[in-house]
Amino acid sequence: MDVFFEIHDDIPRGGPGSIESTRRAFLTMTDLPKQPIILDVGCGPGMQTLDLASLTKGKIMAVDTHQPFLDRLNGTVDQQNLSERVTVLNNDMFSLNFDPETFDVIWAEGSIYIMGFEEALRAWKPMLRKSGYLAATHITWLRPDPPDDLRSYWAKEYPLIKDIEANLEIVRQCGYKLIAHFDLPESDWWDHYYTPIQQKLPALKEKYKSNVDALAVVQMEETEIEMYRKYASYYGYVFYVMQVD
Ligand SMILES: C[S@@+](CC[C@H](N)C(=O)[O-])C[C@H]1O[C@@H](n2cnc3c(N)ncnc32)[C@H](O)[C@@H]1O
Repeated sequence: MDVFFEIHDDIPRGGPGSIESTRRAFLTMTDLPKQPIILDVGCGPGMQTLDLASLTKGKIMAVDTHQPFLDRLNGTVDQQNLSERVTVLNNDMFSLNFDPETFDVIWAEGSIYIMGFEEALRAWKPMLRKSGYLAATHITWLRPDPPDDLRSYWAKEYPLIKDIEANLEIVRQCGYKLIAHFDLPESDWWDHYYTPIQQKLPALKEKYKSNVDALAVVQMEETEIEMYRKYASYYGYVFYVMQVD
């Protein structure tokens, strides 16, 4: 696990995304107060937290369980004089303890899979104000005909992966109306995520050449990146923006 964090702790993002996609999703929420209260769940190193802070004059509560990410984000929040508006908390998404109807927006880029799309939509809804929004990116089949090796890869990595229609049905079943959905472009996977990871792997392979466990982690990253390079048209992250109905 240490090698995993050696790979991930100092790269720009914890998953695919970009300011363009964050902005595109944010601008679909046309019914927000001037200073919305936003919960950013699984904020990681916080690139989207800072992007949200630049898109709104509201307040953001950014939560994650990995303290080094939170320390990094706190440092940037201080540097950018945002501490009046951005609060960083070590908090588990499975047991968020905020009062009912606290937030105008719940934001989750690359993190909702940890709880599961449906479970999170249900569990977090009471924390949203009337007509509040939930915006999340989620791994999704983009084509109905994945090759066998890709299908078995995802059966192992995330068996709950579904297509867009199935996720939209969950949105409706959980009492939200869909505001927008769009696929993240491939550049969102490479620019701030896979490219910086890839650049670190050769040195780590050398460093851990006699450590089987560490090499297995490096290998896992390589396989994940290779899958995406080969099969990006079959799956991706979809941004789902929904509003309490
Ligand atoms: C794929 S990363 C996404 C990070 C960030 N939103 C981004 O897009 O760069 C998922 C994040 O969820 C966090 N996480 C994992 N389990 C969690 C939990 N139970 N509660 C809160 N955060 C969690 C991880 O530490 C990680 O930062």
